[in-house]
Amino acid sequence: MEFKDVMKKRRSTRRYTGQPVEKEKLMRAMELVLRAPSSKNTRSTRLMAVTDLKRAQKLGKLRDYGSSLLEEAGAAIIILGDEEASPMWQTNATIMASYLQLALVDEGLASCWVHVGDYRTLQDDPNSQRSEDYVKELFPEIPANYRVWSVIGVGYADYTPKPLPEYEGPERIIFIE
Ligand SMILES: Cc1cc2nc3c(=O)[nH]c(=O)nc-3n(C[C@H](O)[C@H](O)[C@H](O)COP(=O)(O)O)c2cc1C
Repeated sequence: MEFKDVMKKRRSTRRYTGQPVEKEKLMRAMELVLRAPSSKNTRSTRLMAVTDLKRAQKLGKLRDYGSSLLEEAGAAIIILGDEEASPMWQTNATIMASYLQLALVDEGLASCWVHVGDYRTLQDDPNSQRSEDYVKELFPEIPANYRVWSVIGVGYADYTPKPLPEYEGPERIIFIE
């Protein structure tokens, strides 16, 4: 797919057909985006793909809003960052996750970012479990020094999303000649 078309086609997709996602497609996308830049080349980001749908779907409860799409997705990719490797681990993780969403488009897959960061499982309860701890409990495979930054839900869209606004340049781009 043309690079410009990949950029235009990416939309946050929250409804999926339920069809499982092929491991080869995920691997191709993940291997490609390991080339993403990172502060001081620390390469602090790790990717954990989950195609075991029973386990992946439990990620849908990592928050009480904005994460239930993970219960329908055909796979999930957990974005991990090594906070000891770089003070910029969150930025590095964000860059790689963004690249990943584009690489998934190129594989014919839809996706949506579900944020973890400092969120808690219950939006209105500051004493509820941290979403990161919830994910770590579900996936003891996550190495101890890795933080959970986000989860990317992946799957086959069950609808055709509206295209993004064609051109917002005049409002969002400042050009000094
Ligand atoms: C940092 C970040 C966090 C996001 N968190 C969530 C989330 O937790 N749940 C969700 O459904 N969408 C989430 N999104 C998706 C945004 O809502 C989406 O990108 C935005 O509405 C624009 O829509 P588009 O991606 O289709 O262009 C997140 C996106 C980003 C970049």
